[in-house]
Amino acid sequence: MVKVAVIGATGQLGTDLCQKLKSKEVVPLTHSDIEVTDINSVERIFQKYRVDVIINTAAFHKVDECEENPEKAFKVNALGARNVAVVAQKIGAKLVYISTDYVFGGEKGRNIPYNEFDVPSPLNVYGKSKLAGENFVKEFCLKHFIIRTSGLFGIAGARGKGGNFVETIIKLAKEKSELKVVNDQIFSPTYTKDLAEKILQLINTEYYGIFHITNKGFCSWYEFAKKILKLTGIKISVIPITSEEFSQKVKRPNYSVLDNYHLRLLGMDDLKPWQEALKEYLKEKEYIK
Ligand SMILES: NC(=O)c1ccc[n+]([C@@H]2O[C@H](COP(=O)([O-])OP(=O)(O)OC[C@H]3O[C@@H](n4cnc5c(N)ncnc54)[C@H](OP(=O)(O)O)[C@@H]3O)[C@@H](O)[C@H]2O)c1
Repeated sequence: MVKVAVIGATGQLGTDLCQKLKSKEVVPLTHSDIEVTDINSVERIFQKYRVDVIINTAAFHKVDECEENPEKAFKVNALGARNVAVVAQKIGAKLVYISTDYVFGGEKGRNIPYNEFDVPSPLNVYGKSKLAGENFVKEFCLKHFIIRTSGLFGIAGARGKGGNFVETIIKLAKEKSELKVVNDQIFSPTYTKDLAEKILQLINTEYYGIFHITNKGFCSWYEFAKKILKLTGIKISVIPITSEEFSQKVKRPNYSVLDNYHLRLLGMDDLKPWQEALKEYLKEKEYIK
């Protein structure tokens, strides 16, 4: 039986990965089990658990805090990824590294999604540190899958961000009389359950390389918020604003839609539209029937 270690097992994506794997297959690793920035910690855990696959979901991914603390960002997202890659290679394991749409800068222009053969050009420290992580993975572990995804929402909520956008909007809508949401950043919202399912299909293959994995379609954060409120029946006025009006300090791409091109070439791109995935999430959380 294939043994799969999940680093970040209590995280948003990690939780769904662990749930989908059979209990005998999975080695769930929390932050108290492993510190990716410490190669001795990584080495120790994988000497103990000789797994066939390592899925590294660990990250420092609060975009504003990465900008304020680049050392921590590069330590966790780049050196951490390097440490895991070195050890994965040593034990002969396949490695999955989770990356982001923020490796792109949005310079391709509106309506042209990025595929895996486009050249990254990150705008901020978070994106740069994740791209550095990707490069270490490519350099140090032969059997790798680099998975770029975006706008994650999952039942556990992002630990590193204190929840996800869906929960934030529902909470704010109950507290405030109106909401202002950014309308000039376009991306593809993605349900961690669907992402986890696809990752688990890929690890059974030898289709190594970079994969973009998102739910189908795209929207702005404003459009995403509107859909969440419509589906949950919460009535509140939502005002579209620009990133400048929101006074976001850190630059973000205004268009970072990912094209699941590699999956499509393999006939494996069957992810559902984000609107359907959102409905499923809201049902599972019992916001709707
Ligand atoms: N969330 C998004 O919208 C989004 C979008 C695109 C890409 N991504 C990428 O997707 C991945 C998963 O995101 P997520 O939302 O599932 O994140 P998450 O909920 O914050 O989970 C990350 C997990 O990694 C653990 N971790 C953090 N630092 C670690 C370290 N130094 N050593 C060992 N474990 C550590 C965390 O444990 P503790 O909380 O206990 O520290 C947490 O369990 C990340 O790589 C992220 O960059 C996320």
